[in-house]
Amino acid sequence: MMASEQNGTREHLQALLDIAVEAALAAGALIRERKTEDLGITFKEEGKHNLVTVMDLASEALIKKMIGERLEGARFLAEEGGGNHDLEPLTWVIDPIDGTVNYAHGIPLYCVSIAAVRNNEPVAGVVYGPETNELFTATKGGGAFLNGVPLKASTNADLEKAILVTGFPYNVEENPFGCIDSFADFLRMGIPVRRLGSAALDLAYVAAGRFDGFWEVALHEWDVAAGALMVLEAGGRMGTYAVGKEDGPMVIDRMLASNGALHDAIREVLQRRAGG
Ligand code: IPD
Ligand code: CA
Ligand code: CA
Repeated sequence: MMASEQNGTREHLQALLDIAVEAALAAGALIRERKTEDLGITFKEEGKHNLVTVMDLASEALIKKMIGERLEGARFLAEEGGGNHDLEPLTWVIDPIDGTVNYAHGIPLYCVSIAAVRNNEPVAGVVYGPETNELFTATKGGGAFLNGVPLKASTNADLEKAILVTGFPYNVEENPFGCIDSFADFLRMGIPVRRLGSAALDLAYVAAGRFDGFWEVALHEWDVAAGALMVLEAGGRMGTYAVGKEDGPMVIDRMLASNGALHDAIREVLQRRAGG
């Protein structure tokens, strides 16, 4: 039974976060401990590098089991098992390993991402990087934290001094929405752009002030839900650079996360290629 059944109270959100943290720590430990075992890599239909390991499945099963034990009848939307796309009722949105390509290649940039989403809005979220033991947490209205220390997005308002990060979809060779051109545009401006390979970490790093902005053309709910809450709670901004589409915390089409101060300037560059 939860500390409080009253939706949205501080105690309720903290109780949701505690459940997510417990599951993320356990899943993170599991995938880190077993990373050198036979990962049984198979490939998904979309994209020749879109792989899945047995540890993605094991992590997701463990997270669902732990949340299910704490909350009877919990609803899920998880990368490997799918689930409920209607995110009005409280739903747990799970990426059991974000950065699977890194994980499968022994690159330590991967994480577990879990968010509680209600009314299409994340209300509690955790991003846990087991290799660095960095635990990013946030609750709606309660702030964002890294290992318990409050997070603040950067204050840089000068695009020329920015450091950015991006990611590419598994069909990058088709250059959707000019994503390769946007990458080149920023590089031609002399702006460093990183590509870490984990959207959830990219967002958490914006929240931590390590990056001034992060964009990607096509993501999924499980990539953004937890990290988006962190960005917002750290004083940053979440939105889309698709012209005519509304901003929001669960944007997955042409997503832009920023420190706020640089949002319009970054969006302007992206819209040269991908606005419509
Ligand atoms: C991927 C990572 C990557 C991003 C891709 C995502 P996965 O998630 O977040 O950084 O560029 O768009 O699909 O497949 O590792 O869970
Ligand atoms: Ca992902
Ligand atoms: Ca994943």
